[in-house]
Amino acid sequence: MADDAPILLQAQDLARHYAVSQGLFKPKAVVKALDGVSFTLKRGRTLAVVGESGCGKSTLARQLTLIEAPSAGSLQIAGLDVATAAKSELKGLRRQVQMVFQNPFASLNPRRTIAATLDEPLLLNTSLGKAERLERIEALAAKVGLRSEHLRRYPHMFSGGQRQRIAIARAMILNPGIVVADEPVSALDLSIQAQILNLFMDLQAEFQTGYVFISHNLSVVEHVADELMVMYLGRAVEIGDKKAIYARPLHPYTQALMSATPALRAADRRQRIVIRGELPSPLNPPSGCAFHKRCPQAEARCAMEQPLLRAVEGRQLACYLVG
Ligand SMILES: Nc1ncnc2c1ncn2[C@@H]1O[C@H](COP(=O)(O)OP(=O)(O)O)[C@@H](O)[C@H]1O
Ligand SMILES: [Mg+2]
Repeated sequence: MADDAPILLQAQDLARHYAVSQGLFKPKAVVKALDGVSFTLKRGRTLAVVGESGCGKSTLARQLTLIEAPSAGSLQIAGLDVATAAKSELKGLRRQVQMVFQNPFASLNPRRTIAATLDEPLLLNTSLGKAERLERIEALAAKVGLRSEHLRRYPHMFSGGQRQRIAIARAMILNPGIVVADEPVSALDLSIQAQILNLFMDLQAEFQTGYVFISHNLSVVEHVADELMVMYLGRAVEIGDKKAIYARPLHPYTQALMSATPALRAADRRQRIVIRGELPSPLNPPSGCAFHKRCPQAEARCAMEQPLLRAVEGRQLACYLVG
């Protein structure tokens, strides 16, 4: 993919904080679920976002798909600033960013046939006539591996993998520039995961869609990603070219995640690095580098100041210990 591909989406210091109740007589606390991430997504490319459960991946997805409004930072989609866009412009942007969820059992309306599920976005957003809509639905259904008799059926008649194909078709039916997929294969059998990942890649090759592909599993995103963003407690700790990071992860957290992924560890016999303890609560994050209490290499400085992202070996890295 040429690097002069147009920019579809740009996030700058994007943050989302939630006020949470701590009990009747206590002041509200603030959860910094997403605490300032910046990245660029280009046409036809995939940014993979990885990190442990609770690091803010789904919160990021909700900001990118305009389900929520960020607490701070800026988000530009197709050159428009989401915060200042007019209502009519926002409607257009919502068409441009579609989402695929983890659970294909919960994300499809059980009372709608597949044809009706795929027809709804077309009815709401286009002026196409019935015959044209059906033509479009059948063409896309074929591309995602569904047969035309499937269109008359209901979601409960399909397996998890087929349901995820339907959910992907629904996301793609308006030919959006961007699809945000939040753990789209995590609920599927291992044998089905590769098929769905291949489907994502085939559709991208055909439509040049930009993907933000979220997973807690580094081996899942290895083949689909162009760029990788590793998140820890609401922030990016390492971001850059996928190949470079897989070949040589620099952040101790990225190294630990890689070494904990058996398929990747076997490939080059990386030693297993055990991460101590659990992900800290974002209600009460550690001082300094949020990872320092679990980091096998932490020094005194790591507990004092929060490292900022800086350019190291062709990527962005937030760690004092490297470079
Ligand atoms: N609506 C909310 N209100 C309060 N806290 C939230 C809300 N949504 C998410 N969080 C908290 O934000 C953090 C990140 O959550 P999430 O984005 O779901 O992480 P991930 O998808 O990486 O597992 C978690 O600590 C979670 O409890
Ligand atoms: Mg999540």
